[in-house]
Amino acid sequence: MVEQSRHDDILVLTIHNPPVNAFSPGVPEGLKAGLSAAAADDRIAAVVLIGGGRTFVAGADIKTFGLPREQAPDLRGTVQQLDAFPKPTVAALHGTALGGGLELALACSYRVAVPDARLGLPEVKLGVLPGAGGTQRLPRVVGAQKALDMMLSGAPIQATEAKELGLVDDLIEGGLLEGALAFARRVAAVRPLPRISERAVDGGSPEVFAAAREAIKKTHRGQLSPSLIIDLAEMAVNRPFEEGWQAEAQKFMEARESPQSRGLRHLFFTERESAKIPGLGKDTPLLDIRRVGVIGAGTMGGGIAMNFLNAGLPVTIVETTEEALDRGLGVIRRNYESSAKKGRLSADDVERRMALLTPSLDMGDLKDADLIIEAVFEDMGVKKDIFTRLDALAKDGAILATNTSTLDVNEIAAVTSRPEQVIGLHFFSPANVMKLLEIVRAENTSDTVLATCMALAKKIGKVGVVVGVCDGFVGNRMVHRYGEEARRLVDEGASPADVDAAMNALGLPMGPFQMTDMAGLDIGYAIRVHRARQRGEPEPDGWLDRIVKTGRKGQKTGGGIYDYDETRRPRPNADMQALIEAYRAEKGITPRSISADEITRRLTGTLINEGARILDEGIAQRAGDIDVIYIYGYGFPAYRGGPMHYAGEQGLQKVVDALKQYGHTPAPLLERLAREGKTFADFDRERANSSQK
Ligand code: 3HC
Repeated sequence: MVEQSRHDDILVLTIHNPPVNAFSPGVPEGLKAGLSAAAADDRIAAVVLIGGGRTFVAGADIKTFGLPREQAPDLRGTVQQLDAFPKPTVAALHGTALGGGLELALACSYRVAVPDARLGLPEVKLGVLPGAGGTQRLPRVVGAQKALDMMLSGAPIQATEAKELGLVDDLIEGGLLEGALAFARRVAAVRPLPRISERAVDGGSPEVFAAAREAIKKTHRGQLSPSLIIDLAEMAVNRPFEEGWQAEAQKFMEARESPQSRGLRHLFFTERESAKIPGLGKDTPLLDIRRVGVIGAGTMGGGIAMNFLNAGLPVTIVETTEEALDRGLGVIRRNYESSAKKGRLSADDVERRMALLTPSLDMGDLKDADLIIEAVFEDMGVKKDIFTRLDALAKDGAILATNTSTLDVNEIAAVTSRPEQVIGLHFFSPANVMKLLEIVRAENTSDTVLATCMALAKKIGKVGVVVGVCDGFVGNRMVHRYGEEARRLVDEGASPADVDAAMNALGLPMGPFQMTDMAGLDIGYAIRVHRARQRGEPEPDGWLDRIVKTGRKGQKTGGGIYDYDETRRPRPNADMQALIEAYRAEKGITPRSISADEITRRLTGTLINEGARILDEGIAQRAGDIDVIYIYGYGFPAYRGGPMHYAGEQGLQKVVDALKQYGHTPAPLLERLAREGKTFADFDRERANSSQK
């Protein structure tokens, strides 16, 4: 895994562990052997460390995080050996030097890099902290403030910036190895060797740490590792290196063993897994998408169009009236201008993006589009009409997509003569912001169309997850049950604020009723009315339906379940509380006090239960896909790994017991896995194994 090659008096150690040269078993052994050989050989004046293939070391091997400490690859030992090494060591960086990779480089005497290399300590994203000296060395190089910024955001910096900060000693414009060798020869005789561990930290005043502690209350609410990172960075300022180094080892293990880190690591792998579609080969041909058409310039259509404009793809947006078109275009422009005001875009970017947008009142203008996305009102008749017309006018091979969130994509596809070209692309509001894209594979959707949409999702910065056709697909089908249970909790005696507070405490930015107020109460009401009519049931008349009938529709009318001030903070409304109480009295319900624990168990339980049904029916391919959907589409805290992973952390039997206790029938799959002492991750493995056979 580590190749030794001599270049005159320089020993080059090349790390080969594709695809990203993670610090896996074998790598430390190879590096240590190379370093020992170089130390013992008088003919060697210096050592260069370099990555083979596309990158330097992208970090510790996350797959080994579950191993006992003694069996984990010895990154800290390698770092110590480098720090104490008697001859100059040069880390030659390209691709990404992340986490343990950057820590190796920091323990070398020097670092050189190609200008587009990226350097960072992203451990916080995995619920851990730099555990091989990063918390102690980075502040000693870039100062306390910048080190905190890098370690708390986890975002990498470009080598050019690293050079300005002194983190990189030289930028190599030509071949990296040749440049690194030349550099190593220049410094071969330097003594004493520069050691970062011997430096002091710049700018580590108590205020810097106090401000960081204040900031993470908002940016990393409820998370463990950010505060450990701040504590350790403060030690780098105030304590001897050795003390900070030892404390780091202990805190790293504490974070690594936490459920939060397990949740974030699960997300890391499951997100990558969800990009893979069983049965779809890597060589599936892709369609070339150069022009996009969007039908409907409302909130959804406008947001969808922006995704493609941002990626440099021209979009034709079609509306039925001049007024609606002008309004839609105005909103898009205002969104861009507000990003420009915040410094996220330049004025030129705004104009460049707007110039890619062609407004039209004629659907015929979509005849050259490679992908057409319909984003009109949620009505099957209207959608069928649009798809009939699209079938007649769209060019051969164009992808015809619907943004429906509930309707049957098979039924929509059936009105066309090319159902293999039809797919659902369910964006989440605000569509230009939310990362999730449910990609709805209908009965006849071709592999090429599916693979093209997955690739396109990546291109426009979305996390695409393939789902099957059913009412609400994955996300909305689950959230429907969750909403029902939340209303039941209020029926029984909880206040909406109690319910929301419990979910906020679990880590969701919004509880179910805050979400309802934001989405608009009338939307959910229309769906409930529609369903009741379909099933021949009486019109819905719960307490929430009664609130809608008072004319309060949520944030957009200044209030719904809650009142809102200009900061959009929800405040309970006495009249709505009275309405709920009157409702209970009328139904003969004696309200009882309901604990936050019960609220959390019931709400997560209903999500998990519906998730299990969805999984069993094959609507979702994997439990991990459901987790990705819930984290990116519904704000489930990433550090809890999504509802299905969270179920495993609780123990599936506990979920089953809670469901039964509160009058629900557990899904057969959930009951089976609980009985067998398994988790949904076990189920994913079972399904993957059986599909490979
Ligand atoms: N450990 C194990 N596997 C890793 C890995 C890691 N650190 N980083 C990436 N991989 C795997 C991925 O799971 C993926 O596997 P797959 O092909 O089987 O799905 C494969 O490598 C390629 O990864 P990506 O699909 O993400 O490739 P990209 O080119 O899009 O991105 C990357 C490359 C920027 C390096 C990205 O993979 C990444 O961000 N990796 C994680 C980096 C990280 O967090 N490092 C810190 C680890 S913690 C640490 O170092 C602790 C230490 O301080 C003690």
